[in-house]
Amino acid sequence: MARGKRVLIVGGGGREHALAWALSKSPFVETIFCVPGNPGIAQIGTCLEVDGGIVGLAQFAEEKAIDLTVVGPEAYLSLGIADEFKRRGLKLFGPTKAAAALETSKVFAKEFMTRHGIPTASYQVFSDYEEALAYARKLEPPMVIKADGLAAGKGVTVAGDLAEAEAALRKMMVEGVFGEAGRTVVIEAFLEGEEASVLAFCDGDNFVTMAAARDHKRAYDGDRGPNTGGMGAYSPTSIITPSMQKQVEETILRPVLKGMAAEGRPYAGVLYAGLMITANGPAVVEFNCRFGDPETQVILPRLQTDFCSILAKTVGGELEGMELEWDPRSALCVILASGGYPEDYQVGYPIDGLEAAEAMEDVLIFHAGTARRGQQIVTDGGRVLGVTALGDDLTQAAKRAYEACELIQFKNRHFRRDIGRREGGIQR
Ligand code: AMP
Ligand code: GLY
Repeated sequence: MARGKRVLIVGGGGREHALAWALSKSPFVETIFCVPGNPGIAQIGTCLEVDGGIVGLAQFAEEKAIDLTVVGPEAYLSLGIADEFKRRGLKLFGPTKAAAALETSKVFAKEFMTRHGIPTASYQVFSDYEEALAYARKLEPPMVIKADGLAAGKGVTVAGDLAEAEAALRKMMVEGVFGEAGRTVVIEAFLEGEEASVLAFCDGDNFVTMAAARDHKRAYDGDRGPNTGGMGAYSPTSIITPSMQKQVEETILRPVLKGMAAEGRPYAGVLYAGLMITANGPAVVEFNCRFGDPETQVILPRLQTDFCSILAKTVGGELEGMELEWDPRSALCVILASGGYPEDYQVGYPIDGLEAAEAMEDVLIFHAGTARRGQQIVTDGGRVLGVTALGDDLTQAAKRAYEACELIQFKNRHFRRDIGRREGGIQR
C-alpha cells in the first residue's frame, strides 16, 4: 500500500490550527509539518521555523518529501510561493502571485469585476491626493476608502462623514501609514445590506462552494469599535439560502473563474468572496485568496468530506462533479483576544482552563496567539484562541461555545458576547 501523505501547513494562527485539525482526521494523512505553527498545532504535528522565505520553504518541502503544502496567510501567496513550488514540481494548494492579485490589489479586483460584469460597489481609483479629496467632497457619505495593497486588514475606512473620509485619505496618501500599499486608493459607494463570507475550492476551471459563514469584524459588541481580523463567526447563515448561493455562484464565482482563466491568471486555491447581500442581490465587498480566519474555524468542523482528498483534487484540477457533505448542525466560534487588540496589548499571561474547555463535548479549541513556557501555555498575540462549538442549532452552538469561553481564563481576556446574535431569533 502507498504510504500516507506528508503535508506542510504554512502559517501559525487559528485558521492554520483548524487546517491541521481537519487534515489530522484524514486517513490519507500520515505526517503534518507546520511552519511556524503554534502550541495547539504542536499537539497534532511537528511545528518548526524555516529560514529563507519562500525559497527556504520550497527547499524544506523537497528535503522532507512533502506531498502537499497548504498556505494560510496571503503574504506568502503575494510573494509567489505557489509559483516557486510549481517551478520545482512541488504540489501546493493556493493561487499563483498573478491570481492572488484579486486580494493583493484592490484596484485590480475592482477593474476585473468591471471588465467581467461582476456586481460590486461603484468606485473610482486615485493616486493623486487632491483629486481623491475633490471626488470625496462630491460624494454623499457614507463612503468607503480602501488602500490598494495589503494593509493587514486595516486598509479600509467606512467614513460616516466627509471629515472621516478626509482623515483616511490624508493618512494613506500623504502620511503614507501603509507605505506603498496606500499611495493608491479606491473610493467606493457604501453598500447597504447583510454581510456573508462564501468560500469556494477552485481548480482553475471548476469550483465547489463551501458552506457559507458570517464573520464579526468589529472589536466590540453591537458591531462597534475598530475593525479586527475577526472576533467570531458562525456557519451556516440564513442569509445564504440555497437560491442565494446559486445566485452567488452564477453571478460571482463562475464569472471570476472564467475571467481569470481568460486573462491568463487561472485561479486555483480558495476563493473567498466577502459579500454584501443587498436589496439588489449579492455584491462583492472584497476577495481574499485564502481561507478566512475565523471562518475556517466554523466551516471545517462542519465538513464531512475528506479534507485531504478535496485539497488533492483541487491541486490536481479534478474538482469537476465534486460534491461536499456538510454536518447539518451549526458551528459558532468566539475569539478570545488580548484586551486592547487590535491596538496595543500585552502578552505573556498564563492561560488556565484549556483542558477543561477541550474536554467539553462538541467543543474545539483552536490556538492562534499562544506560546508555550515550560508546561504553561501563555498569551502571545492579539487573537489568542478560537473557541468553536457545534450544536443542533445556532442557539445551542452559542451556548456551548460561551460555556467553554468561561472556563478559559487569562489576564485582560476580551471577547464579544454577541457572536451569532444577529441571526434570527437567537436567545441567550
Ligand atoms: P474589507 O477589508 O474590504 O473586507 O472591508 C472591511 C469591512 O468594511 C467589510 O467587512 C465591510 O464591513 C466594510 N466595507 C467594505 N467595503 C464596503 C462597502 N462598499 N460598503 C459597506 N461596507 C463596506
Ligand atoms: N475573517 C476575515 C478574513 O479572513 O479576512
